[in-house]
Amino acid sequence: MVVNTKEMDTKNVYAGLVETYLVKNAFQEPKLEIKIIGEVLENKSNENRYEEVMKWLSEKRPIQYYAGYTYTFDKKIILDRNVMIPGPEMDIFINTAKKYMANCHNVMELCTGSGVIPVMLGMEYSDVDFYASDISDKALKVAQENINFYQLKNVHLLKGSMFEPFEEQNKIGFDMLISNPPYAKTGIIGDLIPQLKDNAPRISLDGGEDGLYFYRIILANAHKFLNKNGYIIFENGEDQSEELQELFIQNGFKVVEVVKDYIDIERFVVGRLGI
Ligand SMILES: C[S@@+](CC[C@H](N)C(=O)[O-])C[C@H]1O[C@@H](n2cnc3c(N)ncnc32)[C@H](O)[C@@H]1O
Repeated sequence: MVVNTKEMDTKNVYAGLVETYLVKNAFQEPKLEIKIIGEVLENKSNENRYEEVMKWLSEKRPIQYYAGYTYTFDKKIILDRNVMIPGPEMDIFINTAKKYMANCHNVMELCTGSGVIPVMLGMEYSDVDFYASDISDKALKVAQENINFYQLKNVHLLKGSMFEPFEEQNKIGFDMLISNPPYAKTGIIGDLIPQLKDNAPRISLDGGEDGLYFYRIILANAHKFLNKNGYIIFENGEDQSEELQELFIQNGFKVVEVVKDYIDIERFVVGRLGI
């Protein structure tokens, strides 16, 4: 029997990598991440890929940052260390938004990061205009790459803090506002898992003392940018749903729906202005 030792070695290294990964480093979506590890290792143009990936994972870095992409709904999303990796609950966010998009002509997004939300929605709703902003130039560069990758003409980027670029360009009259703002309490960022605290940009995590800083700004100002009966859809952190719902009500919104994530946490709130 002829044994191809090279092939065996490769398989063993691969098995070792997956084991190391599963035992020590699974980040958010092991199945997806193992798929990406497999794809990275298929790339024969980099001879050092096994060693590099092993080192990368043992340092508890998400494979998505090594690969330079992830998948949402099986669609590739380009990314780098300047943006947060869209999490496993992203498809719930997108499906929730879709439920409220009948009669929707335009959507604004604050804190777009990689642009994953408007890019995914923009592909499906080609007659809806999406205006997405972020304070980070580097994040906007990634979002633009995703827009170019899918050749979207209906997703537009604005740079600036929260509503400022919308104010400056007098962009008002939106049917929907969506946002997954930074929502970790400042004091707990140091306790987050290394994949987040040492890898994701701090600016994408820090939601102020109680984690609700950005929601307050958005809810206090959204009425100036939304049409009558316009929707807001937020992703929120664990244990924030109730306080967030109160903020909606204090600011003249009705809470329309609260949606849970895959681990039964109330993760999204849908509100509506003035009905
Ligand atoms: C949690 S990430 C969300 C990224 C993306 N929307 C997603 O869901 O994967 C938050 C984003 O908010 C941006 N950000 C932080 N402070 C901001 C501000 N003052 N104004 C606008 N964007 C801000 C960060 O650069 C980061 O891209």
